[in-house]
Amino acid sequence: MKHPLTIGIAGLGTVGSGLLSLLEAHGARLSQTIGRKIVIGGVCARDRERARTLGIEALPWFDDAIELARAPGIDVFVELIGGDEGVPRAAVEAALKAKKHVVTANKALLAKHGATLAALAEANGVELNFEAAVAGGIPVIKTLREALAANEIQRIYGILNGTCNYILTKMQEDGRPFLSVLGEAQAKGYAEADPAFDIGGFDAAHKLTLLASLAFGTLPALDAVYVEGIQTISAADIEAADELGYRIKLLGVASRTPSGIEARVTPVLVPRNSAIAQVAGVTNCVAIDGDFAGSLMLIGPGAGARATASAVASDILDIAHGGVLPPFLTPVAQLRPHIRADLSQHQGAYYIRLSVVDKPGALASIAKRMGDQGVSLESLVQKKPKSGTALTLGAPPAPVILITHPTNERAIRSALAAIEQDGNVSERPQMIRIEKL
Ligand code: HSE
Repeated sequence: MKHPLTIGIAGLGTVGSGLLSLLEAHGARLSQTIGRKIVIGGVCARDRERARTLGIEALPWFDDAIELARAPGIDVFVELIGGDEGVPRAAVEAALKAKKHVVTANKALLAKHGATLAALAEANGVELNFEAAVAGGIPVIKTLREALAANEIQRIYGILNGTCNYILTKMQEDGRPFLSVLGEAQAKGYAEADPAFDIGGFDAAHKLTLLASLAFGTLPALDAVYVEGIQTISAADIEAADELGYRIKLLGVASRTPSGIEARVTPVLVPRNSAIAQVAGVTNCVAIDGDFAGSLMLIGPGAGARATASAVASDILDIAHGGVLPPFLTPVAQLRPHIRADLSQHQGAYYIRLSVVDKPGALASIAKRMGDQGVSLESLVQKKPKSGTALTLGAPPAPVILITHPTNERAIRSALAAIEQDGNVSERPQMIRIEKL
């Protein structure tokens, strides 16, 4: 047997405790398989008393993650603290500078500082592995870095945030409003500590940043991701989409376009019978269009102790096997700049929900504003106002749902601005892109 691989684990929350359970369950078998013992050479967490309940008394304890990262006997520093600055960043940098391999689940750290950290890893000849940073148990980083490495990727997209998918699924299934389902998702522990990261689309944007970099060989560019969250999606949108044969999903989408990479995290409509529409609850999925492999989709748990620990352990095993790959597959010096496509040039169909005031000619004027911008309508449905929904003296505004033919975003935005200006709607129009799958 080769000499043991000694790991130091910083962070014993959900993922860290999942990793301890996995090593307890499978450590001996894995050591046999790889011909190398995996030894925990140190642990570190915020609260030692709480950590004791994990049965870590026999393990060397470190109060300071940076000290653990540099500790002489440690071969691999496993960073499971989370957060893009402060201790996790300093500890990962310290480990890489000390020529320790790093395994991390920290999507925010890598989305923001990935290029610098990857350069540090390359300069020191060590691995910086982050399978657990994107979509939990789904092995999408390895799929891009290894299995699809020979392809030119045209597009990568998916459901990258389980909390949002859970909320949208429950709104759909139970006809409940957004806030009531959000409270339930928090109670179940799905949401991040600050749920704004989930529902605002930022967690998915971190993940999409890493996927886009690997898929297109470009520098990670978090700022280039256009982000809209799900907080504006109402029960009325879910219901109208359903009647038209669609589901609403928060998707992260990165695609090559003639003017650059279009990367966005937004709610979109997808056909109700599409594979992605069937991905329900906290489950994640990632679809990849490769020029030789074709289109494939990976579906599975995007979070949780066991699934995420599985991803962390797979990174540790890669290191145990030996061989060093650049973190983003292409060496940092050769990653191309991320050229951001102008979203106003986005081509696609749109769902629009308007609250139209009840006056003669209002609908005709709306249709004309669309026509003025060259936007052609596929369907227009005026629904009965729900009784008691408006405190107006006259008739309440009527919900009108428009589906457009494919057009560009600049045209839609101009038409909607003019419609608002005309005073024919009582609230801001809702606009949701219809994703071409
Ligand atoms: N809060 C994330 C989600 C889990 O809801 O998907 C970890 O990324």
